[in-house]
Amino acid sequence: MQHYEEFLSEVLISEEQLKVRIAELGAEISRDYADTTVHMICILRGGVLFLTDLMRKITTPNTVDFMAVSSYGMGARRTTGQVRITLDLQEDIRDRDVLLVEDIVDSGYTIATVLEFLATRRPRSLKVCTLLDKYERREIEVPIDYCGFRIPDKFVFGYGLDIDELYRNLPFIGAVDPDRYQPPH
Ligand code: IMP
Ligand code: MG
Repeated sequence: MQHYEEFLSEVLISEEQLKVRIAELGAEISRDYADTTVHMICILRGGVLFLTDLMRKITTPNTVDFMAVSSYGMGARRTTGQVRITLDLQEDIRDRDVLLVEDIVDSGYTIATVLEFLATRRPRSLKVCTLLDKYERREIEVPIDYCGFRIPDKFVFGYGLDIDELYRNLPFIGAVDPDRYQPPH
């Protein structure tokens, strides 16, 4: 297995920058949901580190639930129909104030599919909070209510985001140098 320093092209967002920005997002969410209980839905697995840090910065009542999706046709052109829900929520969201927590919005198809799916269950409100927005790659328009950082079109890893399922535990967001990365076999 390669050590990440062998293919890291740059640290895009440092541990300290993440900490500062997530505290700001937590404060903003606490203000916006001051009169209710925000029900945070985290999309596994990439969003987990972000969720657990974000929720510690929320000072108003909150609850969490998890779901998982898988997308096929990665790399090729995708549509919302190619993103499948593989793990459903544990709890009903009807009449609740739902905040979807994601690691990154890239083409937008994942979030678009999940929003469509959740809306059919009639939550009272439905908003999106993403740590990263790779806006140059958007193929389908999605509403983003809270965004940590807008990033350029680079493949990133760390802080929940994986490359071939590895490196999620790193405390920063790094960009990959594709010429130096060797996939595990
Ligand atoms: P979308 O459906 O194209 O918006 O893709 C979103 C999903 O692709 C994210 O939830 C990530 O799992 C994955 N993804 C997109 N870009 C990256 C990246 O740069 N690093 C790691 N995962 C990524
Ligand atoms: Mg993800």
